[in-house]
Amino acid sequence: MSDASHISHSCEDIFPARLELPRHIAIIMDGNGRWAQQRHLPRFAGHKSGVKSARMAVEVCANFHLDALTLFAFSSENWKRPRTEVDLLMNLFISALREEAASLHENNIRMRVIGDRTAFSDKLQKRIDEVETLTAGNDGMTLSIAANYGGRWDILQAARQAVTGNQGIDEEQFLRHLSLSDLPEPDLFIRTGGEQRISNFLLWQLAYTELYFTDTLWPDFDKSHLAAAMRDYAGRQRRFGRTAEQVEKA
Ligand code: FPP
Repeated sequence: MSDASHISHSCEDIFPARLELPRHIAIIMDGNGRWAQQRHLPRFAGHKSGVKSARMAVEVCANFHLDALTLFAFSSENWKRPRTEVDLLMNLFISALREEAASLHENNIRMRVIGDRTAFSDKLQKRIDEVETLTAGNDGMTLSIAANYGGRWDILQAARQAVTGNQGIDEEQFLRHLSLSDLPEPDLFIRTGGEQRISNFLLWQLAYTELYFTDTLWPDFDKSHLAAAMRDYAGRQRRFGRTAEQVEKA
């Protein structure tokens, strides 16, 4: 990927170069509402502050030259929230896309949205298309924003595509139809906000991912927290079904 040195967060101080980096991090950004409530602010203030943490994560991961960062911004279940919160989240999404597009492009980041975007307003769909088109040719980090995304939806839409005109389908053929199939599977999954569950995020893609849960609320999640998660990941032994002895020998 290209030189991302003009991105503001430097990294060497928080993550020693000898440690193994994940190639792909996936994050459930949880705790915005509680962060706001603790401060007697409307929940929306937490989401607004959460955008800053999302920007930090993009900057740090790009600076580390990761292949991919995937952020869960809006689940297919989040439509059940009060209408006003949903509307505010959609507007926040539109404004974040407008404000971040140029910087993503300058930093050679390819952004795309995964999920069923047909439920979004024309304005939001257009804005998504614009940023995807602008950044499509970039070959640095891929930033995937999961929006109106659900892991079960993803598997179902892949199954529908895979069976069309196809009799015997194997795993490799099937996974070509899943979201993120062009990327390495996530190495590290992070969920902030204290809950320890996957909540219908990347169900297929997280099969061998290292899971990391923290009580830190998303708006408080800063560069040092992200580095701590990455250091924790670097200390894990990934066996993919093999024995510890086999892994050590290899
Ligand atoms: C979960 O916190 C957060 C969300 C449902 C929305 C996440 C959105 C952002 C961080 C802003 C937009 C991001 C981008 C990339 C444009 P919660 O509301 O469930 O918090 P709670 O569990 O404390 O109620």
